[in-house]
Amino acid sequence: MKYSPWSQEQALLLLATLREEKGPVLMALQLMQKEFGYVDPACVELIANFFNKSRAEVHGVLTFYHDLRTTPPTQHQISICVAEACQAVGARALEKEVKGKFANETNDAYCFGNCALGPAAMVNGKIIGRATLAKIEKARQ
Ligand code: FES
Repeated sequence: MKYSPWSQEQALLLLATLREEKGPVLMALQLMQKEFGYVDPACVELIANFFNKSRAEVHGVLTFYHDLRTTPPTQHQISICVAEACQAVGARALEKEVKGKFANETNDAYCFGNCALGPAAMVNGKIIGRATLAKIEKARQ
């Protein structure tokens, strides 16, 4: 996935598209991530000022949602579902194994809607059912 390099000017142009929205903080954070691949820390103050919110409000939303990243994405992005159904079929063991090999690329996720084929993982946007380290390694190639 191609992202634009972080730019405050570009961020302000994007925020202007949300000027009429109600409750725009989450939408603004999602928009930043969609454009830049992550939410740059400078966005917190930028969004707070733009929408007349406190930095704490914006930071609270940013840290509540696990899908929002505050660091640039790595070349490969791996998410392991650690919600209940996947935990029941070994997701925590898989998570430990995958993080042992690809720690900086791996995040937790909470249900891809693929519970019947758990443990579930997502590699570069593609869902993998009955995930194993071998399947994940293959999907990274
Ligand atoms: S609990 Fe893992 S995909 Fe639903």
